[in-house]
Amino acid sequence: MRITVNLSLTLLCALGMIPISLAASGKGNPEAGQKLYRESCQNCHGPTGKGDSDMAAYLTPPPANLTAKATQAKTDVQLRKVILEGRPGTAMTGYEGAFEEAQLADLIAYIRSLTS
Ligand code: HEC
Repeated sequence: MRITVNLSLTLLCALGMIPISLAASGKGNPEAGQKLYRESCQNCHGPTGKGDSDMAAYLTPPPANLTAKATQAKTDVQLRKVILEGRPGTAMTGYEGAFEEAQLADLIAYIRSLTS
């Protein structure tokens, strides 16, 4: 009995320590997402996701810093929407049809793993 109580307390603490952004990232696989990111997104958003690419100097507005609080505060649904629909008036084109649903989840999981 005592062991059970201790275990659940430990579990609760551990859960509490997981940042909400990670906990909310669902089933995506960040490693698979990183591969997709390198192929499709890194040119603009840069190797660390901070928008620190060579392309950035030529783009107005510059590519978003994906590690920024403003981006990380967005829900998965909001990120998914930007990725699929792009952002009109910017270089961010929509990727509708480019990724399977699971790949989108992987990409979002990778974005969640980026921290400033
Ligand atoms: C051609 C350059 C380019 C490529 C390639 C690109 N992006 Fe973007 N991205 C941008 C720009 C520019 C913005 C808009 C910045 C703004 O709104 O000020 C943006 C915005 C975003 C945002 C919104 C961030 C926010 O907080 O609003 C997300 C998420 C994003 N990109 C993810 C991706 C992903 C994932 C890929 C690859 C599948 C990708 N981008 C590929 C240029 C690019």
